[in-house]
This record gives sequence, structure tokens and C-alpha cells, in this order.
Amino acid sequence: MGLLFVALFLMAISATCADEAAFIGVNIGTALSDMPDPTQVVALLKAQQIRHVRLYDADKAMLLALANTGIHVTVSVPNDQLLGIGQSNATAANWVSRNILGYVPATNITAIAVGSEVLTTLPNAAPILVSAMNFIHSALVAANLGSRIKVSTPHASSIILDPFPPSQAFFNRSWDPVMVPLLKFLQTTGSYLMLNVYPYYDYMKASGAISLDYALFRPLLPTKEAVDLNTLLHYTNVFDAVVDAAYFATSYLNFTNIPVVVTESGWPSKGDSSEPDATLDNANTYNSNLIRHILNNTGTPKHPGIAVSTYIYELYNEDLRPGPVSEKNWGLFDGNGVPVYILRLTGSGTVLANDTTNQTYCVAREGADKKMLQAALDWACGPGKVDCSSLLQGQPCYEPDTVVDHASYAFDAYYHRMAMGDGTCNFNGVATITTTDPSRGSCIFAGSVGRNGTFTNTTSVAPSSNSTVSGSHSSFLCSKDFYAHTVLLGFVFWTAAYL
Ligand SMILES: *[C@@H]1O[C@H](CO)[C@@H](O)[C@H](O)[C@H]1NC(C)=O
Ligand SMILES: *[C@@H]1O[C@H](CO)[C@@H](O)[C@H](O)[C@H]1NC(C)=O
Ligand SMILES: *[C@@H]1O[C@H](CO)[C@@H](O)[C@H](O)[C@H]1NC(C)=O
Ligand SMILES: *[C@@H]1O[C@H](CO)[C@@H](O)[C@H](O)[C@H]1NC(C)=O
Ligand SMILES: *[C@@H]1O[C@H](CO)[C@@H](O)[C@H](O)[C@H]1NC(C)=O
Ligand SMILES: *[C@@H]1O[C@H](CO)[C@@H](O)[C@H](O)[C@H]1NC(C)=O
Ligand SMILES: *[C@@H]1O[C@H](CO)[C@@H](O)[C@H](O)[C@H]1NC(C)=O
Ligand SMILES: *[C@@H]1O[C@H](CO)[C@@H](O)[C@H](O)[C@H]1NC(C)=O
Ligand SMILES: *[C@@H]1O[C@H](CO)[C@@H](O)[C@H](O)[C@H]1NC(C)=O
Ligand SMILES: *[C@@H]1O[C@H](CO)[C@@H](O)[C@H](O)[C@H]1NC(C)=O
Repeated sequence: MGLLFVALFLMAISATCADEAAFIGVNIGTALSDMPDPTQVVALLKAQQIRHVRLYDADKAMLLALANTGIHVTVSVPNDQLLGIGQSNATAANWVSRNILGYVPATNITAIAVGSEVLTTLPNAAPILVSAMNFIHSALVAANLGSRIKVSTPHASSIILDPFPPSQAFFNRSWDPVMVPLLKFLQTTGSYLMLNVYPYYDYMKASGAISLDYALFRPLLPTKEAVDLNTLLHYTNVFDAVVDAAYFATSYLNFTNIPVVVTESGWPSKGDSSEPDATLDNANTYNSNLIRHILNNTGTPKHPGIAVSTYIYELYNEDLRPGPVSEKNWGLFDGNGVPVYILRLTGSGTVLANDTTNQTYCVAREGADKKMLQAALDWACGPGKVDCSSLLQGQPCYEPDTVVDHASYAFDAYYHRMAMGDGTCNFNGVATITTTDPSRGSCIFAGSVGRNGTFTNTTSVAPSSNSTVSGSHSSFLCSKDFYAHTVLLGFVFWTAAYL
């Protein structure tokens, strides 16, 4: 049985693109003061075409509401039930019979997460973790569900030490007595390593060593990519580096071909004063880019094309969670099912259907260099052919008369004229996309609801026709070239990897 799975997985790898496509799921935490009832939750999941969820328990009403929906469900053994299950196969069998057997197959339970971040949050239960998984698996086998329902346990990525360069990563050796039998269990049962990946925290902890762009999957200049000198693999985002670190740490213990499923990843949309990067735009950027990255089946530099299915943390903002403001603001929706922000997902399929990419704006990036903004503004109003007449003195968008405000107006007009195409909100890195309508008073930005920008008047006067535009104009559209570059680079390294 185990051999068969290994063989199948090898075949998937050798075919380069696993025939199993990666999916995006969501975690459903329930610490809300106005927690919607299970039928409302399921209605939201259906409206958003979310087909994979993870529950933090095995709530009866939730499992019943999910019946006959086609939604795939990962249920959890809460940490406070773990000790009992790990110490007694009868307790484990009883748990399976009460929480699983009564619901399948109508409710499509596909995995059981045994505990949550046990090694780091409940280390005294670590010695019985693998027993608990074994007992639960045995109970499933006895019910003929052994191959349909996978058993695993989500880990905090902090158990991986020295995660960069990924090729040198290893699991904290204190946990070898648990990790070795655990990986053996995952391999022989055809299960997968569950990993929680939080570039937000990696970025926060790195205090400057990790750039925000690298954490948010934003395009990087090739010189800013992180290169693993042992493997010559290029990393363009923290997420891939952490997943590859897990693959390498696993192979250091002599296990290969254990797939990784990311059980939690996300970005908070709001924080307190000590969490300045927990913003709507960053959360939107991270989750939008994450979803596109996953659904594209990009895989990671180490295993290109191998699915890394990922559950976003999380469906709802959980206002009852203790801790800093960010703790309550990881959700995609509020308790009424209203999106906290509108994901930008054009062209990446149907999941999370509130795709209103058309309601985005391009504005000057906060903290951007003033000179670069001015140069970009000059370019937009000149060669970029944006009608900047509204920026002239006495016109609606003249006030406030700052380069940031004027540049935002021009960038947005250009971005909308270019139909919000990829790379048209870049301007050498001084522009950024936002979902907040920057219009004010009678100054209406392009793309604002009910309006549209006016463009293409080549004779329009730039507000600061004085300053010179230096360098080649096309440099402001560098991301097109940039993509071409990265594709080429990617190809070179691919080729290198296969030679
Ligand atoms: C529990 O384990 C004992 C001994 O290992 C075995 O005899 C018994 O059948 C098991 N019970 C269940 C419910 O699996
Ligand atoms: C449950 O999900 C699996 C995996 O996608 C699928 O093969 C199976 O048909 C589903 N079962 C039901 C009852 O929907
Ligand atoms: C490794 O795990 C042990 C046991 O939990 C912990 O005390 C130690 O701090 C960890 N090492 C590192 C470098 O995180
Ligand atoms: C992995 O395999 C190598 C070569 O067989 C061996 O030297 C090493 O001790 C093994 N490592 C572990 C953790 O089992
Ligand atoms: C999608 O995958 C292709 C190759 O499979 C890759 O060239 C491209 O960069 C990927 N796009 C994203 C957004 O990850
Ligand atoms: C967005 O989601 C809400 C709530 O699920 C739904 O009622 C609405 O129809 C969706 N809008 C679009 C444009 O899909
Ligand atoms: C966005 O605009 C494009 C082009 O105008 C249109 O084809 C698409 O349907 C729009 N999408 C939404 C969600 O309104
Ligand atoms: C833009 O506005 C003009 C005039 O108000 C209108 O005729 C045109 O259809 C609009 N274009 C779009 C794409 O909405
Ligand atoms: C372009 O601007 C000129 C001068 O401001 C104006 O006369 C002309 O009508 C404009 N053309 C369009 C298409 O708006
Ligand atoms: C244009 O340049 C002149 C001389 O360098 C300067 O005095 C003037 O203020 C500039 N005008 C604008 C609008 O920047």
C-alpha cells in the first residue's frame, strides 16, 4: 500500500506537473461575537466557490451543514483532546466513531488534523503525538476509510531552523525523536506534511532583513532575489523559501516525496501601532498573490509544478481572539459575510468569486522617493499621454498641491487607460495598487464607481513640464521587461537543474 503511494507520487514528480492540481482552502475559526450559523457559513462558502475548508474541531452542526455540498473538509482533534487519544486506542476509536463515521460520505471529510502546532504550543503532548495519529489511522482503516481520509498534524514553521538558505534547513533536533516516526507515518500512510507558513511573522521578526516586497510576492528586481548558493535556486518570495526549507529538512532525515500542504497562511489587514504592516493593502496583496501563485501550480524552486495546496488563514475576522489588534484581523470576511477587502484575482479561476478587480486604483507608494515620483509623474503626463489638465492650478485635482497627490492621480489615469494590465501600476516601483477610491471632492480618479478617466490627449500640459525626464521612457514600464527577464532566468535555472 505504502509502496503504491510512493510509486504514484514518483510518477507525479517525473511527469513534472503533478496531475493533482493545487487547491486553495480556508480555515474557519469561530471566535466571533456574532458567529454566523452553519447554514450561513456554508452559504458564504458556496457564494465564494470555496471548495476546501479546515475546521478547528469536528463541530456536529457544521459537519451536517457541509453535507452534500461537495466541499472537502479537514477536521481537527483539538489540542485539549489529544492526550486522551494518544494514550488510548479505544478513546481514539471512539473519537473517530463519534466525529467521523456518522458524517461520511455525505460530508466529504478528506483529512484529520491531529492537534495544532503541538511541538511548539503543547510540548508535553509531543511524546504521544504519533501514537494519537496511529490510533486514529487504525480506527479509519477498520472503517475502510484509511486511504480516503489522511491523518496528519499541522506544524509551526518555527520547528524548522536555519530556513535560509533552504538547502541548509533542518528540523529542531530536539524533536527528532518525534519527527522521525512522524515522517515515517506520513510516508507509509500516503499522507502529507501539514505546515503553517506565515511570511508576515518572518518579516516582522527579521526587522529589516526581509523586504516587504519579498514577503508579499511582489515582483523583485532580479538582483533582489534570494539565491541559495548551494543549489543556485532563486527565491522570489518568503513562502516558497519556507516550503522548500521543509522539503530539505525532511530529506535531511532521509525522507523524500512527502508532499507539503500549507494548513495556514495569510496576512492581517489591521494592526496596532506596533504592527504598521498589518494593512488592508498588504493583506490584499499577500492573499491575492498567494492565491494566484498556488492555483497556477507553480510549485516551489525545489519542486516546480508540484502542488502546494494552501488553506488561507482565515475566513472570518475573529473579534474575540485575545492578543494584539492583528490577531482579530486575519479574515477575508466580517461576520456578515461582507468582504474585508476585494481580492485581485483576475484570471486565476473561480475561487473567491468576489473578483472586482475593476475597483482598484493605482497610487503613489507611501514613502516613495520624491524625485522618482516627480520623474514618473512627468512621464505619465508626457510620453504616457495621460490627460493631466485636472492637475493644473484652479482645476479639481490641483489641491493638495503635492507631488504625491499629483502622481497618484496620473498613475491611476494611466493604469485605467491600460485596462489595469499586469505591470501597468509600477512606475519604477513608486506606484502601488489600492482598493480604496482615492477620489476626493470634485477630483474624481479614473476607475471611480460610475466614472471613468479621460485620457489620450497628447497635447495635454504636464503640471511640471519643467523637469526633465531622464533615461528611457520604457523604464517606467519595466515590469513587462522584468517578467520577460524572470521567465528567461527561470528557464535558464530550470535547464540547469535538469542537466
Ligand atoms: C487496542 O490495542 C490493543 C492492544 O494493542 C488491541 O488488543 C485492541 O484491539 C485495540 N483496540 C482497538 C479499539 O483498536
Ligand atoms: C470527496 O472528495 C474526493 C476528492 O476530491 C472525491 O474523489 C470524492 O468523490 C468526494 N466524495 C464525495 C462523496 O463527494
Ligand atoms: C528547539 O526545541 C527546544 C525544545 O522545544 C527548544 O527549547 C529550543 O529553544 C529550540 N531551539 C531553537 C533554536 O529554537
Ligand atoms: C540518512 O542516510 C545517510 C546515508 O545512508 C546516513 O548516513 C544518515 O545517518 C541518515 N540520517 C538519518 C537521520 O537517519
Ligand atoms: C505560472 O506558471 C508558469 C509556469 O508554469 C510561470 O511561468 C508563471 O510565472 C507562473 N505565474 C505566477 C503568477 O506564478
Ligand atoms: C460577493 O459576495 C457576497 C457575499 O457572499 C455576495 O452576496 C455577492 O453577490 C458577491 N458579489 C459578487 C460580485 O460576486
Ligand atoms: C472588469 O472589466 C472587464 C473589462 O472591462 C470585464 O470584462 C470584466 O467582466 C469586469 N469584471 C468585473 C468583475 O466586473
Ligand atoms: C467613459 O465615460 C464616457 C463619457 O462619460 C462614456 O461615454 C464611456 O462609455 C465611458 N467608458 C467606460 C469604459 O465606461
Ligand atoms: C485635447 O486638448 C486640447 C487642448 O487642451 C483640446 O482642444 C482637445 O479638444 C482635446 N482633445 C480631446 C480628444 O479631448
Ligand atoms: C521651472 O523651472 C524654473 C527654473 O528652474 C523654476 O524657477 C520654476 O519654479 C519651475 N517651475 C515649475 C512649475 O516647477
